[in-house]
Amino acid sequence: MKNSISEASKLLRAGKLVAFPTETVYGLGADATNPEAVKKIFSVKGRPSNNPLIVHLYDISQVSEVAEIEDLPQVKKRIDKLAHFWPGPLSLVLPKNKNICSEVTSGGETVAVRIPNHPIALDLLSEVKLPIAAPSANRFQKISPTKAEHVSSSLGDEVAMILDGGSCSVGVESTVVSLVGKTPILLRPGGISREDLEEALGEAIQLVDTYTDSDLLPSPGMLSHHYSPQTPLTFRSNLIESDFKGSVGLIQLTKESEENSNKFKVVSVLSPCGDLEEVARKLFEQLHNFDSLGLNLIAIDHCEETGIGLAIMDRLKKAVRK
Ligand code: TXA
Ligand code: MG
Repeated sequence: MKNSISEASKLLRAGKLVAFPTETVYGLGADATNPEAVKKIFSVKGRPSNNPLIVHLYDISQVSEVAEIEDLPQVKKRIDKLAHFWPGPLSLVLPKNKNICSEVTSGGETVAVRIPNHPIALDLLSEVKLPIAAPSANRFQKISPTKAEHVSSSLGDEVAMILDGGSCSVGVESTVVSLVGKTPILLRPGGISREDLEEALGEAIQLVDTYTDSDLLPSPGMLSHHYSPQTPLTFRSNLIESDFKGSVGLIQLTKESEENSNKFKVVSVLSPCGDLEEVARKLFEQLHNFDSLGLNLIAIDHCEETGIGLAIMDRLKKAVRK
């Protein structure tokens, strides 16, 4: 792995794209200070340029290299209170400085930063010594990759290198919190729960409660249609009798929900013991698997919207057929 990391680091320095594992999902990395390299991310993903990227760092001391927080004591205080979640699945939106090219921030004045908690990502970031912009390494609006094979099957020909770190341990993307306004705002629920963040901050985090498409959204990743498999997906509670004319697969989140499995072509339970962290870890991988089975429809259960359940339900609500 040491050789691959030094090779990957050279490629990044040369303006190429490298996919790498993080604890949440695989990222598609480029040098965040190089506009041409960053533009490649958008073209390879087919992502609209108005959707800004998260910049990955390996140490908290690098925050001041990409964000302008020197004269913002309130912002610094909040970062201090949240610092123990790093490395980890938390992205903070801060005022940007001039080192970050405008392609990364979609022309905006803020930058999202995070320190991923994965040994390969951290080794790569500390070797390359550059801030690395990285969205999830999937095509726009498709399910995020949680294994190297997911990246190679969708973007394989278009990335210079894919570092394989096995399956991601968290499995849903980072929580995105904006610290640029008066109060912290939760822009995307993710691997760190809202409850844990509020406890650390000692104040409430505002929720943006919208699932409607709009250019006005503070974070375009919150578009209502996102993260979809090719096969239509629906909540089990919304199934109608005629759905069973075709083949339907069922993904149960836990064992608690009662089964009528004979109607389904295939049934899988993500966490038989009812652990939502395990559900999150396995969710995208199982959606990728079910998507390859040639089903007409995938049905899936709900879960409670607390803890990491908020992120799970956020992704599912965006993925189901409308
Ligand atoms: O876990 C993760 O965050 C993964 C891994 C690779 O780190 N990355 C990821 O990136 O999920 P992406 O590009 O798929 O999602 C980034 C989210 C989007 O919802 C985007 O709109 C939001 O972060 N975002 C990025 N920069 C922002 C900014 N300056 N202001 C508001 N939202 C921002
Ligand atoms: Mg993404």
